[in-house]
Amino acid sequence: MPSKTSCLYLLTVVCWASALWYLSISRPTSTYVGHMSLPVRKAAKPQKNITFTNIRTRPLNPHAFEFLINEPRKCESAAPFLVILISTTHKEFDARQAIRETWGDESTFGDTRILTIFLLGRNTDAVLNQMVEQESQIFHDIVVEDFVDSYHNLTLKTMMGMRWVATFCPKAQYVMKTDSDIFVNMDNLIFKLLKPATKPRRRYFTGYVINGGPIRDMRSKWYMPRDLYPDSKYPPFCSGTGYVFSADVAELIYKTSLHTRLLHLEDVYVGLCLRKLGIHPYQNSGFNHWKMAYSLCRYRRVITVHQISPEEMHRIWNDMSSKKHLRC
Ligand SMILES: *[C@@H]1O[C@H](CO)[C@@H](O)[C@H](O)[C@H]1NC(C)=O
Ligand SMILES: *[C@@H]1O[C@H](CO)[C@@H](O)[C@H](O)[C@H]1NC(C)=O
Repeated sequence: MPSKTSCLYLLTVVCWASALWYLSISRPTSTYVGHMSLPVRKAAKPQKNITFTNIRTRPLNPHAFEFLINEPRKCESAAPFLVILISTTHKEFDARQAIRETWGDESTFGDTRILTIFLLGRNTDAVLNQMVEQESQIFHDIVVEDFVDSYHNLTLKTMMGMRWVATFCPKAQYVMKTDSDIFVNMDNLIFKLLKPATKPRRRYFTGYVINGGPIRDMRSKWYMPRDLYPDSKYPPFCSGTGYVFSADVAELIYKTSLHTRLLHLEDVYVGLCLRKLGIHPYQNSGFNHWKMAYSLCRYRRVITVHQISPEEMHRIWNDMSSKKHLRC
């Protein structure tokens, strides 16, 4: 049987712990060192108001980059049905132009408003920055933030896109994130998958779902060091070659990312944010993670195809546009 003294001791410890807990949540910034004496009364209940959401914590991953080039008014006149965020690098002038002239042409769908935005960081080469600046003054479809543009910073690029939608285009219905070497079958994306005439979805996320784990081989493009990600499995994530989501998810992911340690694999990182948000990505076999040889009938069934050069993009687009009447 426990003795009276040990009971008393236990009680004191419990009181101490609850008092410290109370002090730490009610006055998070002040120190109490000068006032510490054994509390005798039971700690009062914390105010109802105090919840985890209004305790300010410093973001783990603040994403405090300035916009070097921005298009803040692109969504002002009318909310787009679909915003397409295209991750690109400075040198890919041809790829951007090919997308503008083919599937990314904002004027193709009339009343169903499409917005195409190219995402870039800051290049270490000043000439390339200037060329992009000029390109942006012509087309007004480039957004640049002040982080070093590199393969290892692709996650920052995606988060910039999420931030852009959340800040400057929150009324958009859907968002697609893709790369500059992807062919997108817009008809299928818009009319077969998203369907403008139907009720907009929320907390919706789809693409080519990968259930995998970290690759520990240092030679791999997808190498993940054990100290950055110790688990043996990733949460389900959509291949970064193309994923589509309802626009409400952009803000949710962006805000979650502020409190989520950065990983350089952007699609895995988005998957981690989705898991925190309790959003499960839907598998859609129209999204192709790999290259697929062109044939009219085959490409008519897809939503995305990977590894398409600017020349191929033009060829495929022209062929598909000129053969709309042909049956498969
Ligand atoms: C609760 O929070 C609101 C605003 O956040 C504040 O005006 C109000 O005084 C708080 N109430 C209490 C009991 O602290
Ligand atoms: C990513 O961008 C940050 C901010 O500009 C920079 O400090 C960092 O070196 C970049 N990382 C890589 C791997 O390029």
